[in-house]
Amino acid sequence: MNPTWVMSYPTGYETGTYLALDMGGTNLRVCQITLTEQKSEFDIIQSKYRMPEELKTGDADELWEYIADCLMQFIETHHGEASKQKLPLGFTFSYPATQNYIDEGILQRWTKGFDIAGVEGRNVVPMFENALAQRGVPIKLTALINDTTGTLIASAYTDTKMKIGCIFGTGCNAAYIEDCGSIPKLAHLNLPPDTPMAINCEWGAFDNEHKVLPRTPYDVIIDKDSPRPGQQAFEKMIAGLYLGEIFRLVMVDLHDKPETHMFTGQDISKLRKAYSLDSSFLSAIEEDPFENLSETADLFQTKLDINPSGAELELIRRAAELIGTRAARLSACGVAAISKKKGYKSCHVGADGSVFNKYPHFKARGAQALREILDWPEKTDPNEEDPIEILAAEDGSGVGAALIAALTLERVKKGN
Ligand code: BG6
Ligand code: GLC
Repeated sequence: MNPTWVMSYPTGYETGTYLALDMGGTNLRVCQITLTEQKSEFDIIQSKYRMPEELKTGDADELWEYIADCLMQFIETHHGEASKQKLPLGFTFSYPATQNYIDEGILQRWTKGFDIAGVEGRNVVPMFENALAQRGVPIKLTALINDTTGTLIASAYTDTKMKIGCIFGTGCNAAYIEDCGSIPKLAHLNLPPDTPMAINCEWGAFDNEHKVLPRTPYDVIIDKDSPRPGQQAFEKMIAGLYLGEIFRLVMVDLHDKPETHMFTGQDISKLRKAYSLDSSFLSAIEEDPFENLSETADLFQTKLDINPSGAELELIRRAAELIGTRAARLSACGVAAISKKKGYKSCHVGADGSVFNKYPHFKARGAQALREILDWPEKTDPNEEDPIEILAAEDGSGVGAALIAALTLERVKKGN
């Protein structure tokens, strides 16, 4: 539960031009956002850069140099030589970070498979700024934010019912706004108890002690073989980085139990490669429209050189459904927990990320689970809104980061 120093919702009347940098885990994105005079309207230009896989487990200097190069390229393309004035930047750094100030981020631990030595326990801002200074890139980091906080603020910009921001993507997590009086770790600051403070929940780390959620043998393997065993217990059951791997482990285990006769006599060497199946593989299985699951059969043939029988195909589909359903239902538990804690009877939840946006039935399964947990009566009209609706969010690491930079500069101007 990390205080983020984002201390208000936007009004919709924020203005100005900001840069935003999104280091999420899959892509690196640089945006320039202009918040216009028109309420809740903005213009955006952006460039996406592929985050090379080897950077995620490489050297810290290489990481910051790569990021600084991408920013420099963006500035040169969009501002040319003329830009000497330092542009304010919102940096979406989507990892758990301790913040004593909004422009600080002490990395608690890498998540989402990252494993770069020399960064954990340190403030990432000076490392990032040094790489920029070496290249003479005219940027001033105004705010370091989490993608969930960005999602919350960007969504609240256009919809005042938004109270929770969630990411269901490579990782999973949420943010909401708490009163400082309910945040024991800020008690020493003696802030007025009703001062609002966005909290990055880092709920991916829920139940790291394994006291609450039942685990399968596959969850145990995922954890043991990850770069940070013992961390992100909840996330490892839900997030896109792991769904395909859970499925692969189930398939291999079934094959290795001769009594199941799964893929008997077939060469499963391709299936044995860790992390060779991502969540889009599982999505494709769940999306197969044919009763005989012929698309799934093609997928297994082309990707894995395996020819599943009819019965095996049915089991494959069922395994995918169970993994996808567990992920969606656990995600709903997190949303229900925040709603109960805050006593929200009715609100909107802004959600982003590849699993939320692309994984089949994720939204409907999550909504059904929320209905069960919060004990809502069955809908009489299918078009009726649920009291708490999880909706596709506005772009958190673009518009959200710009808004948070704007809110921060506004606070600085007022001397708060
Ligand atoms: C993007 C948001 O759409 O979703 C990012 O802009 C966020 O801030 C990302 O980190 C999460 O999704 P994924 O699937 O890329 O992890
Ligand atoms: C991981 C990160 C968290 C982030 C989430 C979604 O859980 O620890 O900071 O919000 O992934 O990207």
